[in-house]
Amino acid sequence: MENTLVTSTVPAQFVYFTCQRGAERSLKKEMERRRPNYRFSYSRPGFVTYRLPEPESLEKRLALDVPTLRLVFARSCSHSLGRVTTRECARADGSFDLATALQRVWNLALDEFDDNSRSANDARRQGRPAVKPARIHVYERDRANVGIRGFEPGLTPLAYEIHRKLYDAAPDAFKDGFGPNADRLDAPGEPGEVCLDVALVEEDEWHVGFHRVTDVHSRYPGGLFPLALPVDATSRAFLKFEEGLRWSEFPIGVESRCVDIGSAPGGGSQALLARGAFVLGVDPAEMDPLVLAHPNFTHLRGRINQLKRKLFRKSRWFLTDMNVAPNYTLDALEELVARDDIEARGLLFTLKFFDWKFADDVPEYLRRVKSWGFNHVRARQLQYNRQEIMVAALKKPFRR
Ligand SMILES: C[S@@+](CC[C@H](N)C(=O)[O-])C[C@H]1O[C@@H](n2cnc3c(N)ncnc32)[C@H](O)[C@@H]1O
Repeated sequence: MENTLVTSTVPAQFVYFTCQRGAERSLKKEMERRRPNYRFSYSRPGFVTYRLPEPESLEKRLALDVPTLRLVFARSCSHSLGRVTTRECARADGSFDLATALQRVWNLALDEFDDNSRSANDARRQGRPAVKPARIHVYERDRANVGIRGFEPGLTPLAYEIHRKLYDAAPDAFKDGFGPNADRLDAPGEPGEVCLDVALVEEDEWHVGFHRVTDVHSRYPGGLFPLALPVDATSRAFLKFEEGLRWSEFPIGVESRCVDIGSAPGGGSQALLARGAFVLGVDPAEMDPLVLAHPNFTHLRGRINQLKRKLFRKSRWFLTDMNVAPNYTLDALEELVARDDIEARGLLFTLKFFDWKFADDVPEYLRRVKSWGFNHVRARQLQYNRQEIMVAALKKPFRR
């Protein structure tokens, strides 16, 4: 028999993540634990890529996302289709040619999702509908460290501009399959939809990829919520808790009994009050008069460890955003909720990393929270978190 040399023609596959600037090391450590066989490939501040150990089918790639990988520090996850740089899209003078770049994005998308593509053929053979992108997600990696000179991650004018141009240049093969409001970058994707991602790592370095909408964050480009601070918000913490409440999907609503520890001046409490909840705000500092005047708000002025437990017997939801070290927050919560006289249903709280080395202990912090009887414990560095993470812990089902 003739000897044949079998060489793989399937190109290497990559996955890329965005994260807060400064969190790359923590994200890499998580990936070492979750996917030790993925090879780190490339990173820029706020952007990290990995090579998959072997090529996977489109369906398998679509199933791999931030919740499946249980990553705390990734803001978004996308499966790479290729890059768009001056190498492929240069004018005669060597500068980045936008028109060619837009065309290349669609060519990469056609390679994967066209009716004649390998994945479309696989789908046909298996009797499944072929996957088509339902919308385009364009986002920039963070240009600065969160909070430095007022920088907040979010959808940028450049992202809106490139999205508009890509939408207008979309091939007919895709236009018909676009989801509702796909012409709006900030319109949330629907669960199950596939999004074509364009991560603007530099103005002349775009990473094109795709992901499926699964959890709340994956509905938005780069996991970036288009939230605005209401004019009457008393602090930026409103955004943090609003995002945390949406992410956790906790059923906190009318007459839910909540405790907000470290509540001053009151932005976090406002996010709860807006849902119709009753809020006990614990803080030695003064609350904003607007929050104090709300009929559903009660200020317990003092430190949490100075107050009597019986004040919290009717409370079910405990939120905290104290500016203290992680173990102090955990000690305070444990003292409250790890005994039977207080029937906590859920916790939503920040752990502040005054030093990034605290991030290494996240698995231990989460084990500790589970040991108090919470069977659903998740953590994530939210868009509106600074050098900190948000933890959501729930008892499910909850029996009283
Ligand atoms: C980052 S601020 C909280 C912002 C607030 N969540 C909001 O929505 O406006 C931290 C707060 O934690 C409070 N704090 C620190 N240690 C505390 C303790 N042991 N008990 C209660 N509050 C505490 C501080 O007084 C401070 O007001």
